[in-house]
Amino acid sequence: MKNIDSKSHVRGESVYLDDIPLVQGTLYACVFDSQVAHGRLRSIRTAEAETSDGVVRVITSKDIVGENQIGGIIPDEPLLADGEVHFQGMPIAIVLAESEELARRAAKKISADIEPLEPVLDPRVAAANGDLIVPPKRFKLGDSDAAFERCDHVFEGRADVNGQEHLYIETQGAYALPTEHGGLRVYSSTQGPTAVQRAVCRVTGLAMHEVEVDVQRLGGGFGGKEDQANAWAAICAVGAQLTKRPVKYALHRMEDMRMTGKRHPYSADYRIGLDKELKIFAYEATFYQNAGASADLSPPVLERTLFHCTNSYFVPNVTATAYSCRTNLPPNTAFRGFGGPQGMFVIESAIAHAAEKLGVNAAEIQKANLIDNGDEFPYGQIAESDAITTWTQGDEKYHFAALQHETDAFNAASKYFKKGVAMMPVCFGISFTKTPMNQARSLVHVYTDGSIAVSTGAVEMGQGVNTKIAQVAAEMFGLPIEKVRLHTTNTLRIANTSPTAASAAADLNGKATQMACESIRDRLLEIAVPLVEAETAADLSLKDGFVHRNGERTSLDFNTLVMDAHLQRVNLSEHAHYATPGINFDWETARGHPFAYHVYGTAIVGVTVDCLRGRYEIDYVKCCHDFGSSMNTSVDYGQIEGGIVQGIGWMTIEEVFYDAEGRLRSNALSTYKVPDIYSIPKEIAILPLVTSRENLAVFNSKAVGEPPLMYGIGAYFAIGNAIKAFRQENSPPSEGGMAAASADGVVLSFDAPFTAEKVLMSLYK
Ligand code: MTE
Ligand code: HPA
Ligand code: MOS
Repeated sequence: MKNIDSKSHVRGESVYLDDIPLVQGTLYACVFDSQVAHGRLRSIRTAEAETSDGVVRVITSKDIVGENQIGGIIPDEPLLADGEVHFQGMPIAIVLAESEELARRAAKKISADIEPLEPVLDPRVAAANGDLIVPPKRFKLGDSDAAFERCDHVFEGRADVNGQEHLYIETQGAYALPTEHGGLRVYSSTQGPTAVQRAVCRVTGLAMHEVEVDVQRLGGGFGGKEDQANAWAAICAVGAQLTKRPVKYALHRMEDMRMTGKRHPYSADYRIGLDKELKIFAYEATFYQNAGASADLSPPVLERTLFHCTNSYFVPNVTATAYSCRTNLPPNTAFRGFGGPQGMFVIESAIAHAAEKLGVNAAEIQKANLIDNGDEFPYGQIAESDAITTWTQGDEKYHFAALQHETDAFNAASKYFKKGVAMMPVCFGISFTKTPMNQARSLVHVYTDGSIAVSTGAVEMGQGVNTKIAQVAAEMFGLPIEKVRLHTTNTLRIANTSPTAASAAADLNGKATQMACESIRDRLLEIAVPLVEAETAADLSLKDGFVHRNGERTSLDFNTLVMDAHLQRVNLSEHAHYATPGINFDWETARGHPFAYHVYGTAIVGVTVDCLRGRYEIDYVKCCHDFGSSMNTSVDYGQIEGGIVQGIGWMTIEEVFYDAEGRLRSNALSTYKVPDIYSIPKEIAILPLVTSRENLAVFNSKAVGEPPLMYGIGAYFAIGNAIKAFRQENSPPSEGGMAAASADGVVLSFDAPFTAEKVLMSLYK
């Protein structure tokens, strides 16, 4: 079934923040932000802006009625700079004007006197200075110190992985309108309507019941709007509160790129120990997360790095330590995978390193260590694993050895083009790692004409969650999907929502919807018993718009039943609450059962590198992916394809670049390259692994949003293998290797993304 939004999307009729009809008197906001990454804010000159054409008001930190604070996890993030500036792009003042253009023009007339301080951009420097966002976190399984003593092979090295710009098509934005009694209605392009509500309440001093947040849909979020939609909504809210007029702010692309945080760059040290059979016996990793200037979501992102530090592998002795390091960059934030991909990149680097030194194919090490049923993750959860199954089925279908042969044969015949292939297994835990967040609500109304309205806490951002939830309601009432309408995510209808994140929105909100529908359906079937002369409601079901008795269609249709129930004063609405059972995690012991289940998969990635130019193409990504029982294959395949392309982009061409002063140089689409139609894989093949395990998700489906992104990591190592093939031919064997030659002549530098420049440098000494 198609995504229910597909027609309105292609017709341009879908409504985003910028399409909301404006109310008379609307003002436009524009931010004046810091051009210095670190400094003391001495004074702000706003006089010229205040008298500028069309300007109604200029707001600085001292004007804020509530608290000048939007830090969700740690209160370390002022809405407007006060005393110090911590990153280039930090908001300092807000201009409100009669038009967007006048607001932007006036903002340019503001200036600030900032005494510069030394900016810190490197997380290792921040860690050395002791500047951490939270105390270090650690996972420990077995005894890695003792285990390394017993390993036949031990390798250590460093892996670096850069950030990633979200580049949602719709930039950040909000629209706040004053309501009665000093309240506010806020439209926001956010994944977290409740997070926005809290931030708005904090800066305005309003109680949560006075602030309504409404979200129709997002033109993409990818984690970038889990927490970082808050600032713009808070800015509009402050403006609306002070002027008693509606205030809108939809960011320009360059404002968005400059002022918002991105995926966290990490620098890591690893040490890996193997026995003769290539079993990884011990693994140690130390992660330095570049958090940026304030906490934002960095602590839980850091935690997920640890949760995924051994990817799909069972390692009996693990010590993994992670530091969240405060730097003078915009606060980095959630991005598809939420720290997991960075953790996986490091262990994949360690495995590539070991493979290189031992002269084996990395796939041999990967395969020998896949996690099996009953194995323990480094956080105490016992695996119910399909890692080996996805590997084996993927291999049977796509024949890794044959692809490797094909690659080798090509390389033997080709001098300047070299192919590379790599396997990339993925294991991703589903549930918010913070257990209390795993809850959701759904409000279902059946109207007397038989149509159904559903509201949940889920935010539609292109991932198709509304389609899946509509399918749930349609299925539960035995109706065509057209009879179900998904309505906006609204804090008055659904309170205290978790953000739409952690790939869990359909699981959680779908379950709540199923429960709400079930309650109404059961009441309806009770009413139907005498009408169809049944013995008991247990014999009845709803299908194809009719009541069925023992599977046989009766003459009682859904609409007649609904009207009858209403006339008998039966409640046709339900508000259900779902909380994932059986999950827990205790950071005191760093042990528990944090995930409802894991999603497994294995991809084979093939590339061709042009060894004269350093350019490359992605030939194919072939994966065996664990869907559970997919609720909607077209939506899920779309998620896989999009995730893979986004993951490859992160690993290859996307390069977030800050200069030594902390200024974002990749600040526009001309300087930040994302995958396009020319650079996506020439083939993406998907083999569904259908599992029938009970997994707690709705209709036994599995979450699909984030896991496929990590298949993209395979592209990095496939490119590395192609480079290796070239260097083996073109330099003495002692100098062959994955990247720049190190002291002993073999390579080993892992530093993503593998941009064309880096590839070229790695090909030649
Ligand atoms: N797909 C689209 N088209 N747009 C998005 O913004 N976000 C991703 C993923 N897929 C995203 C997407 C991220 S980061 C997450 S956590 C999940 O969708 C969230 O939605 P879900 O819980 O419904 O899978
Ligand atoms: N994933 C995504 N978002 C989150 C999480 C998580 O595990 N925890 C808090 N926010
Ligand atoms: Mo996704 S990074 O959990 O929004």
